Amino acid sequence: MSKWPEIEKKYYMPTFERMPVVLVRGQGARVWDDNGREYLDFVGGLAVNSLGHCHPVVAQALAEQGKTLTQTSNLFYTVPQLQLAELLVKNSCFDKAFFCNSGAEANEGAVKLARRYGKLRLDGAFEVITTFDSFHGRTLAMTAATAKKFQEPYTPMPSGFVNVEWNNLEAIKKATSKQTCAVMLEPIQAEGGVNVPSEDYLKKVREWCDQKGILLILDEIQTGVGRLGSLFGYQLYGVEPDIITLAKGLASGVPIGAFLAKKKADVFKVGEHGTTFGGNPLACAVACAVMKYIIENDVAGNARRVGEYLGSRLADLKAKFGFVVEVRGRGLLWAIEFKKDMAEAVMLGCVEKGLLVNKLKPNAIRLIPPLIITKKDVDEAIGILQEVLGSQGW
Ligand SMILES: Cc1ncc(COP(=O)(O)O)c(C=O)c1O
Repeated sequence: MSKWPEIEKKYYMPTFERMPVVLVRGQGARVWDDNGREYLDFVGGLAVNSLGHCHPVVAQALAEQGKTLTQTSNLFYTVPQLQLAELLVKNSCFDKAFFCNSGAEANEGAVKLARRYGKLRLDGAFEVITTFDSFHGRTLAMTAATAKKFQEPYTPMPSGFVNVEWNNLEAIKKATSKQTCAVMLEPIQAEGGVNVPSEDYLKKVREWCDQKGILLILDEIQTGVGRLGSLFGYQLYGVEPDIITLAKGLASGVPIGAFLAKKKADVFKVGEHGTTFGGNPLACAVACAVMKYIIENDVAGNARRVGEYLGSRLADLKAKFGFVVEVRGRGLLWAIEFKKDMAEAVMLGCVEKGLLVNKLKPNAIRLIPPLIITKKDVDEAIGILQEVLGSQGW
């Protein structure tokens, strides 16, 4: 092992459970460690590297914009920001966009927008209903919005969030009060276990929000930008939210977050929200190039086709190994759940054989490869998984 884990111990706060790999280079769906060893990357920067690593479109946009203009502050108009807003609005059901730097920040902005809406249109309603096993980010407010397990070290939590059971419309109905301004959900709970809802859940929640006059926020930070096999997850479920949040895949590895709103929820006035770095020319130029490439080359279609193939190969694994209790997912977001807490051992076994996968829970791993992977990549990953799962008397 190299010196870097020791250096980490000395100089870096120990909040991450690291895999025993020091990555130094990437290309497409492959990465290399500091010993020159190659891996097939089914972690993809945690669902970030939509076009894989160092895609020429990303490299070119970075280089060109890096030589032109990287940061000006939002006191000025800048072209890439407005081009990106136009591109996203024209390819979605939304009317306005706002850019920030991360997923958590996008969700904070969306919740602020919903609270503003509550103040202006709902008699001061401010509460947002979210679900257990959700994941909305690590800021204090998003920790309050997120599943309980992240909250305990930091209590007391900011108020204004009510957590209810996932995939249970009645729980949302019961939690709705005069103080409710919005419901915030992921179309598929990603970090919480790749939990796919019943087909009509989102539609029913939409109907309930309409009935009550409250907003529906979809957190598509992980599911958006082609991940589920359509440009946005809401399209799969035939539901249009009032506000959507995006981040991870938007610039394929360059930090950016976004929230978009329909006209109805476009209620911010000058000075009511802001950011220094958010929407800067560098991140927006890369996001523009990535989104154009994704749309023009139907990368979401590739995620759908290769994702269906991955799903069928995972079903084969389930049929072969009795200790695989479930494979679930959509597009290129999948989980394999085991009968026992063996995810760590499976993940390490895969690393040994040149495949990176994510330990999602003690008993589940997650596959979130770049959206540009091929069926051949899937065959290679399944081959390694099969070897690992067949190698021990689990
Ligand atoms: C659905 C969802 N929302 C929000 C976040 C937080 O994003 P970030 O880590 O960029 O703040 C994540 C990150 O995994 C996510 O999956």
